Amino acid sequence: MAQTKGPLTSQSILFFIFGGTGDLTSRKLIPALYNLFIDGWLPQNFKIIGLGRTSQTAQQFRDALKTDVSSFSRRSLGKEETWNEFAGHVDFLVSDIGADKTYDDIGGHISSARESWNAEPCVIYYLAVAPRFFGPIATSLSKHGLASNSNSARIVIEKPFGTDLASALELNKLLTSIFDESQIYRIDHYLGKETVQNILAFRFANSILEPLWNRNYIDHVQISVTEQLGVGDRGGYYDEAGALRDMVQNHILQLLCLIAMEPPVNFQADEVRNRKVDVLHAMRKFHPEEIQKNTVRGQYSKGWIEGKEVPGYREEGGVDTESNTETFAAIKFFIDNWRWNGVPFYLRTGKRMHQSSSIISIQFKDVPHMIFPTGAIEGWQQNRLIISIQPEMSIRIQVQGKRPGLDMTLNPVDLVFDYSGTYKGETPEAYETLLLDTMLGDQTLFMRGDQVEAAWELLMPILSTWTGKKSLSFPNYPADSWGPEAAEALIARDGFHWFALPLKQKK
Ligand code: BG6
Repeated sequence: MAQTKGPLTSQSILFFIFGGTGDLTSRKLIPALYNLFIDGWLPQNFKIIGLGRTSQTAQQFRDALKTDVSSFSRRSLGKEETWNEFAGHVDFLVSDIGADKTYDDIGGHISSARESWNAEPCVIYYLAVAPRFFGPIATSLSKHGLASNSNSARIVIEKPFGTDLASALELNKLLTSIFDESQIYRIDHYLGKETVQNILAFRFANSILEPLWNRNYIDHVQISVTEQLGVGDRGGYYDEAGALRDMVQNHILQLLCLIAMEPPVNFQADEVRNRKVDVLHAMRKFHPEEIQKNTVRGQYSKGWIEGKEVPGYREEGGVDTESNTETFAAIKFFIDNWRWNGVPFYLRTGKRMHQSSSIISIQFKDVPHMIFPTGAIEGWQQNRLIISIQPEMSIRIQVQGKRPGLDMTLNPVDLVFDYSGTYKGETPEAYETLLLDTMLGDQTLFMRGDQVEAAWELLMPILSTWTGKKSLSFPNYPADSWGPEAAEALIARDGFHWFALPLKQKK
């Protein structure tokens, strides 16, 4: 990892976006690049080239992006002249992924940039396209000699990276036959989130946690990523994917790795990624007969969210009316190593849930001996450390305290570090961090090929069981609920319950 990030002043960057007219480009990539520009991170010599089939001029492309930035950037458009200056670095290439001409044109752009900048540009190919195009694009780049320079060419791949272990292995094989692993940036946008990056800082820049961070003090860990949204207009994609592929294989397992990893020796990309992949290798894989006991799948039916009636999953556009796809998953995992032996990790994720929130809750063991009389305890809660990733960005430690008064009455209280109270100013979006890191050549926050494969390997028994056996209970949770009852039972059997932060009142 770059020790301290600095603007890319000495670099020249050519940023090609395949899928230049797509949703990801307009909602995330261009707003992120624009914010990096406003904050002075981008070099003088940079060019963004959108690729797409739409027959339009570069000016039409820029005009559309201007509207997108106004709607989707955290800062909106800002000053007109700033946008105009940025837009001067943006171009469009009417292109067809399958046509040789596209790659000749890319080559032409690279040559003319090299000439006018009098420098070898760092070329980034961002694949904001459907996964079926990953292979063909990489192959064509290679065929046209556009991929070979490992110092200057990089490829960025969005998720999903494969749909199972076999397809991920195949894609990795293809990519690594063309690119060096150091050129491949597999995005998991959760790793760019400020609060997720802070898990590394919090765990490894403080000495008070490490002595407690193990099976001797920790009772269990929960990672809960719930969303109020349904599948919206992504039904076609989602019905082929489901919660396990869409959220668990990537975002949630990455969060788990950050919580469970051993301290890295330094902050180099491969050192951090080695420690994370160790966790995935140590996770206990299920035998088919263990799956029912340790996992719960769910699918939402219609309901009401904030006063609005919402359809059930099977009524969503692009979704099979008999769909067996899960929109909810809960899993109890164990990590078979010295640190975590016997500590359950409960994961849960779902759409159309009661709250949108991403929370990691680490519950500590109870005091070994209670010295206070039962009458002194008004509320009792084992100590918990709660890392709230979103929407609230905070870290809380729940402890017992004495309620002020003449008698000794114990109550749970929170020690709170809240981003909004501590730091002024806006937090960068995950994509800002990740795009800057791509340009800087820092892979710490990106998934290495073996991590992706290890995550698939872990989930394959569950995936095969769930796809092989149709659920007879679907749909089994209404919109605006906490998921199927069986998910409560999964954790209640061990004497725990899912933790949620109380909702803040909307202003
Ligand atoms: C994406 C999933 O990767 O992450 C979506 O495909 C999901 O289904 C999204 O809604 C959640 O991301 P965030 O940043 O909104 O928590």
